[in-house]
Amino acid sequence: SPATYGISPEHGFLSPEPPLESLPDLYYAKWEAVVANLQPLLLSKRIRPVVDRLPILSTEHLHTDAEWRRAYVVLVFILHSYVWGGDRPAERIPPQLTVPLFEVCERLEVPPVATYAGVCLWNYKPIFPDEPADSLSNLACLQTFTGSLDEQWFYLVSVAIEARGAPSIPLMLQAITAARMGKVRVVTECLQRLAEMLDEITSLLQRLYENCDPYVFYNRIRPYLAGSKNMGDAGLPHGLLYDDGRNPPEYRQYGGGSNAQSSLIQFFDIVLGVEHRPTGVTRQDQSTPSTEDAPKSRHGFIHEMRAYMPGPHRRFLEDVDSIANIRSFVEARRSDPALRLAYDACLSMLRNMRDKHIQIVSRYIIVQSRGARRASQSGQAPPAMNLATVVPTDSKKLRGTGGTALIPFLKQARDETGEPAIDAW
Ligand code: HEM
Ligand code: ALA
Repeated sequence: SPATYGISPEHGFLSPEPPLESLPDLYYAKWEAVVANLQPLLLSKRIRPVVDRLPILSTEHLHTDAEWRRAYVVLVFILHSYVWGGDRPAERIPPQLTVPLFEVCERLEVPPVATYAGVCLWNYKPIFPDEPADSLSNLACLQTFTGSLDEQWFYLVSVAIEARGAPSIPLMLQAITAARMGKVRVVTECLQRLAEMLDEITSLLQRLYENCDPYVFYNRIRPYLAGSKNMGDAGLPHGLLYDDGRNPPEYRQYGGGSNAQSSLIQFFDIVLGVEHRPTGVTRQDQSTPSTEDAPKSRHGFIHEMRAYMPGPHRRFLEDVDSIANIRSFVEARRSDPALRLAYDACLSMLRNMRDKHIQIVSRYIIVQSRGARRASQSGQAPPAMNLATVVPTDSKKLRGTGGTALIPFLKQARDETGEPAIDAW
């Protein structure tokens, strides 16, 4: 049943009911006061002392799923503000955050770091509650770091994509059932509709340019989304020290927030039979047995990102993985032109989406990092140390917030999208 996977036919991976705007129990008023004042606290650099003075609140007053999710949103926005809201990153996370965050994360089965679920899936509301919250014309953001329109738009484009893509889930589950029963017409029609949806999603992706300025994104927004893995140059050589006041504190490293954590896009890959390899591993590499002692890992970064999805969504993807049959169904009927065409159209649309995404990454990260390098060379860089101000001299060393080497990773993912095509292009 969809409910056990935390998804719904109408909203897909977005939370089934609109997320809570604040925790109802006044017990949590101090947390809500911090997130409500995040921008002044960041501007005045008073976020850390304010958090340090908070009481350690218990999670026992959280009741509904919506309340647990709201607590996660609140805590990860405070966490990343605490870490990145000073001239240098804070390495130690105090028990005021760590203790409740660990409990919330265990319950929701997410890691204690800002994920796509926290900043997008559980962080929106309809502008007009009597209209559906499914398009950019009726979506608002609950929480941001910067308070900017640019940041809201960045999250809302993703929310709109999830909403637009939601009907593809029942649609493609229907296609899997139809394929099992040999119903070629139904499968063909489902694939035709999926191809249209993928095209609409790409159009939504392109709307990012309307209200999210690349300079603002790179310099103001993105630093807050950074994780603690491979962040040595930005001042976190060992990761973050999660001090829960009980056990000896331990360093931990997590990737930062990234849309690579979107279950929807991975769902498309899975139902269409697209497989992603670790970056740098070619199809040939994988079919020839590895001569080194260590076997080459079969999965790469995209698969790793499942660990950053809410547990039920992760299990949904695994279960769909185990029943996905469309690719072999089409392969076995490759002489059916309509079926073949519809399947290949889906791959081509998904590949096109990845192409447009690469252009976004180029404008929002690669080009912006050049400007940041010029600023640091001419001594005009801001004093803070974070993802935006630490610019490697070699652009090949640039990393995404999730931790990938950007363009080589994204280009390979794009090219892998075309590989299962029946008619190679
Ligand atoms: C992955 C950047 C918006 C979907 C990535 C990666 C980067 C990146 C650098 C590589 C993983 C990492 O290291 O984090 C950006 C930037 C964006 C943006 C700069 C906007 C300013 C979006 C949006 C979507 C999206 C709106 C929604 C469809 C993905 C997906 C991946 C990914 C699915 C995983 C790789 C793949 O499946 O091809 N993004 N992204 N991104 N992004 Fe984005
Ligand atoms: N993953 C995106 C980046 O690296 C947010 O900037």
